[in-house]
Amino acid sequence: MANPVFVGMDLGTFKTSVASSAGYRDAIPTACGWPKDHIARTVLGRDVVFGKDIVEHRLALDLVRPFEKGVLKYGDAATSGLSAQQIEKHALATRLVIEYAVGMVNPSRNDSSTPVYGVIGVPAQAGLKNKQFVMDAAAGVFDAVAIVSEPFTIAYGMNRLTDTLVIDIGAGTIDICPIYGVYPADDEQITLPIGGDAVDEEFEKLLKAKHPRVQASRNMIRDIKEKYGYVSDVGEKAIVTLPVDGKPTPIDVTEPLKASCMALVGPVVEAVCKLVSKFDPEFQQRLRQNIILGGGGSQLKGLDRVIEVALSEYGGGRVTRVTDATYAGAVGALKLAMNMPTAGWTALSAKSKAPATKPVPMAAAA
Ligand SMILES: Nc1ncnc2c1ncn2[C@@H]1O[C@H](COP(=O)(O)OP(=O)(O)OP(=O)(O)O)[C@@H](O)[C@H]1O
Ligand SMILES: [Mg+2]
Repeated sequence: MANPVFVGMDLGTFKTSVASSAGYRDAIPTACGWPKDHIARTVLGRDVVFGKDIVEHRLALDLVRPFEKGVLKYGDAATSGLSAQQIEKHALATRLVIEYAVGMVNPSRNDSSTPVYGVIGVPAQAGLKNKQFVMDAAAGVFDAVAIVSEPFTIAYGMNRLTDTLVIDIGAGTIDICPIYGVYPADDEQITLPIGGDAVDEEFEKLLKAKHPRVQASRNMIRDIKEKYGYVSDVGEKAIVTLPVDGKPTPIDVTEPLKASCMALVGPVVEAVCKLVSKFDPEFQQRLRQNIILGGGGSQLKGLDRVIEVALSEYGGGRVTRVTDATYAGAVGALKLAMNMPTAGWTALSAKSKAPATKPVPMAAAA
């Protein structure tokens, strides 16, 4: 049998990043777009759209972001609030995103004799049902998988396997996870149901309250946050040009932007303190001195410092950002995959590569 290709994947609410032992890496939005009608289908020339084309052609697409809000419930039809049909559509979108992402980093994708082994990072407290949901979605793509908590992959990638606390600020959730030399137990990790998406929502609300006639889509809101977002006191003014009744107008967004970004700090510090206090006192100090900030939201300017300042009341702390917020999880997952003992893998039997070349149209899922 050919040597396996190992893949590390960070399957996030907002974006999925992948890295493979073949030396490739890539990141795409965790989303699938189906052309809205036959005109769109003709223009796009595809049954299903991924990657940056999703942003470019979004008006012509029915977009499914399978992990948007309530991701942890999708595995359970009874409590998700979604219809069975919607759940099926989310499951299909998840599978297609995984398949597309793996296809981008696996040069042997058309050679079924090369096995593909993947480590997939999911939010720290993803319930059992959710892990099964991801496992089912991965079954068509990987020969074997291991599903691990996303903060753990970040720590593993940085060789910080002891005395470390990882705070992963994603789009949908903030995951906080202590690392002390073993796989973290589910109940030791904290998942807060806030993150970048919640900041965007709040920013949009505050901006529109202050400037009711300003027009800004959620993508524009997110772009402004990513460019100017900050939580420190010495920030420059954020002045952006936005349409007011259709006319481009300079708007000072400093205040609403800062207020919405700051909203993350309190809950994070509170959760860190709660988590740390459960460990013995000697270890508490070591954890606080070794905090890693990861995920897209870790790039908010000043966030590391603001958390340090807030922790000074609790005995101080030292916060370091990951060097590469986009790939830290995927690269750590790949490293874990390459070092995984045989017993760590769950074999998947349903691998079929057909959909990579023949995507399933939306109609088939509905
Ligand atoms: N420079 C930046 N400044 C602030 N926020 C940013 C920046 N870059 C990305 N983000 C935000 O980070 C979030 C995405 O982070 P990430 O890619 O880690 O999420 P995810 O892994 O998909 O989500 P989750 O971990 O919740 O499942 C988005 O809300 C995005 O707007
Ligand atoms: Mg993430």
